[in-house]
Amino acid sequence: MLSWDEYDDAVDTSAAPKAATAATQQAPAEPTPAVIAEQALNQLNEEIKAEKPVTEVAQEPIQATAPVEPQKTTDNKELSKVEAAKEAINNIDVAPGLEELEMGARRVDVDEKAMINCRADLNQLVPMKYDWAWQKYLDGCANHWMPQEVNMTADIALWKSKDGLSDDERRIIMRSLGYFSTADSLVANNLVLALYRVITNPECRQYILRQAFEEAIHTHAYQYCIESLGMDEGEVFNMYREVPSVANKAAWSISHTKGISNPAFQTGTVETDQELLRNLIGFYAVTEGIFFYCGFTQILSMGRRNKMTGVAEQFQYILRDESMHLNFGIDVINQIKLENPHLWSAEFQEEVTQMILEGTELEIAYARDTMPRGVLGMNAAMMEEYLQFIANRRLAQLGLKEQYVGAKNPFPWMSEIMDLRKEKNFFETRVIEYQTGGALSWD
Ligand SMILES: [Fe+2]
Ligand SMILES: [Fe+2]
Repeated sequence: MLSWDEYDDAVDTSAAPKAATAATQQAPAEPTPAVIAEQALNQLNEEIKAEKPVTEVAQEPIQATAPVEPQKTTDNKELSKVEAAKEAINNIDVAPGLEELEMGARRVDVDEKAMINCRADLNQLVPMKYDWAWQKYLDGCANHWMPQEVNMTADIALWKSKDGLSDDERRIIMRSLGYFSTADSLVANNLVLALYRVITNPECRQYILRQAFEEAIHTHAYQYCIESLGMDEGEVFNMYREVPSVANKAAWSISHTKGISNPAFQTGTVETDQELLRNLIGFYAVTEGIFFYCGFTQILSMGRRNKMTGVAEQFQYILRDESMHLNFGIDVINQIKLENPHLWSAEFQEEVTQMILEGTELEIAYARDTMPRGVLGMNAAMMEEYLQFIANRRLAQLGLKEQYVGAKNPFPWMSEIMDLRKEKNFFETRVIEYQTGGALSWD
């Protein structure tokens, strides 16, 4: 079984190449933002090696509980199990377990609701304050799909044929499944083990729960592809420990969940609130907003060439989910900024800008590793420009200055796929209904 908690022990960072080496070779005397980002990544590798895993956070030892004595009445008569249950209910005290709630207090007022550090009752979904979060929850449910509904027959035949795919195309498929099969678990873990607790708004939590299930579906989809194609599962699922360009991305993401994964972590100070923002930016803007884009583009380009159309269709649906995750995350970050402007200091903006640039450099290194030469009508240089274009968008979405001047989008068709609606099926496969809540119909 995979366990991100054991990641630090397993990554062989000595084998990891430096990210974005080409950028370093031509570095001017004055370090560019990209060079600064690369230096930070090298330092990150060292820190990851030195730090203890998240699970080593000091915790109280768990004491074994004493065996339960049979309950007795006041006159010392032993109760049956049913009588004991009735007795317990009769004696229930509403206060324990609800200590944070003031019984009989006035009802939640919408103005009391806040993204973080909210003191209003979080168990009451309504009245809603952030309609955009609820709408994203509804949209996510309307887009429900399952991996088994995608026809993989042609993919299996092509993958098993001797000359249907080039070595470069096979490399892209293997690397994509290698990265994504564990990346979505990292995202899901961050949501349920770290983020959920510190986002203090019920409509946003509702979306986070929906997103967590979608991440499970995505991991299922990758496993479904890996199993259908008869790949070596051990090789694919261990790439995030064994293939440097994949491992570096995973390590970067994990390094941004550590702070708030600590069970003792609490928001409420400038320092801890900024740590939460680092987590949101590290996962929504970089992991889901940059790290997914080279692999998605490569696989979808393959689908456009009528190769591995089942895998491409799975990725197409995942990309649509992911673009909603990204937009939700950006909205959350911007809402926190709005409600807590003191967190978004000039110094912190510099730090966030560097995080985006670090993520971009890692993804460019991944593009070079997965495309040593031109393939599928694209190459690493085109992908580099695309990723710079994406990075500029992420910076702009966060209200920050674009860093890659003049970067253009060499793959405009990617935007069309992200905007897919049910009436349009990009690959013209046989699914004729999409938004049906799980029951797709076939010709
Ligand atoms: Fe995902
Ligand atoms: Fe996601």
